Amino acid sequence: MKILVTGGLGYIGSHTVVELLNNNHSVVIVDNLINSKIEVLDNLKIITKKEIDFYQIDILNFIELEKIFKKYKFDAIIHFAGLKAVGESCDKPLLYYENNVSGSINLYNLAIKHNVKNIVFSSSATVYGDDFKVPFKEEYGLGTCTNPYGETKKINEIILTDLSKTDKDLSVVLLRYFNPVGASKTQLLGENPNGIPNNLVPYIAKVAIKELPYLNVYGNDYNTPDGTAIRDYIHIIDLAKGHLKAVEYAVKNKGIEVINLGTGKGTSVLEMVKAYEKASNIKIDYKIQPRRKGDIETCFADTAKAKKLLNFETEYDIEEMCLDSYNYMIKNIK
Ligand code: NAD
Ligand code: UFG
Repeated sequence: MKILVTGGLGYIGSHTVVELLNNNHSVVIVDNLINSKIEVLDNLKIITKKEIDFYQIDILNFIELEKIFKKYKFDAIIHFAGLKAVGESCDKPLLYYENNVSGSINLYNLAIKHNVKNIVFSSSATVYGDDFKVPFKEEYGLGTCTNPYGETKKINEIILTDLSKTDKDLSVVLLRYFNPVGASKTQLLGENPNGIPNNLVPYIAKVAIKELPYLNVYGNDYNTPDGTAIRDYIHIIDLAKGHLKAVEYAVKNKGIEVINLGTGKGTSVLEMVKAYEKASNIKIDYKIQPRRKGDIETCFADTAKAKKLLNFETEYDIEEMCLDSYNYMIKNIK
């Protein structure tokens, strides 16, 4: 298949491109590099030994984006392009609605105009909000989000659901990711955000390489076994493989499906700290801080639907996630 991958140089997109190319699909990447580097493209070529068509285009630019749709006949689109910093979205809601909603609407308009019938969208477990009991099941639908970022994911889900009602030939998979961590085994792709990371594992990684002095653990008074919050961490390679299965499912099945991509296992913040210490053999200092605003207590996936529809099961455990994260950080210390 020929697949348009928006945001394909980002963290999840780049790992997915590897899986797509290794399974004999061809990809065209569109990315404006707002949160990625062009070196990722070189690394993708090194890893896969394949040519990749890349265009530095903002999906908000309808005219430039349409040139791509005129140049290629796509079988499917995997839509990763979006801004993802929860805190920033609270400070700059319009930026998030414009980029993540208006940009997506451009893309969906072009998909319809150019007859691309298969779309896989990057949604998030954040759309469940704090409304439901774990494990989160797809049938629960949309909960209450505490931030504009989450709202943009919900709006995209609603738009694609409505669109699928208007065109019976359309096939949409809404993938609700839990918490992706880790890196490619090649150590050429991974996550190393500039500045102070918002997310747990990138932060621990920077403590491990002594770029930051200690981890702030946000809250140890949750109703969990060790008092710290619980998440469903999924290895980025497993997540990328889930996209391969989802896009292959989309071309064979019409209609819309919401599918969780997680492991179904919950891990607390302190368990993750211990796993990282074991994998890296480095002590991770931490200080307990008050809860972080907007955080929920416990979040993990019901994985039955992913297993049933996609035959998707995860392979890697948290120690391997930590080991791959650490190896990537060591290799990429500047
Ligand atoms: P990322 O920031 O690494 O990748 C997103 C890519 O999209 C970047 O390369 C960025 O440059 C590009 N991009 C952003 N806006 C664009 C625009 N207007 N035009 C063209 N390119 C644009 O993020 P990621 O972690 O790889 O996430 C990919 C998708 O998955 C995002 O939509 C994100 O919201 C979603 N998601 C991520 C997580 C997570 O924890 N990483 C969890 C749930 C959902
Ligand atoms: N945490 C800390 N210290 C830190 C960073 C995080 O204690 O320095 C804690 C948080 O309070 C939370 C847990 O670690 O309890 C996980 O936090 P992350 O920021 O790593 O992840 P979140 O679950 O808050 O959110 C992530 C993405 C969202 C996505 C969601 C999907 O940031 O975009 O996963 O479940 F929507």
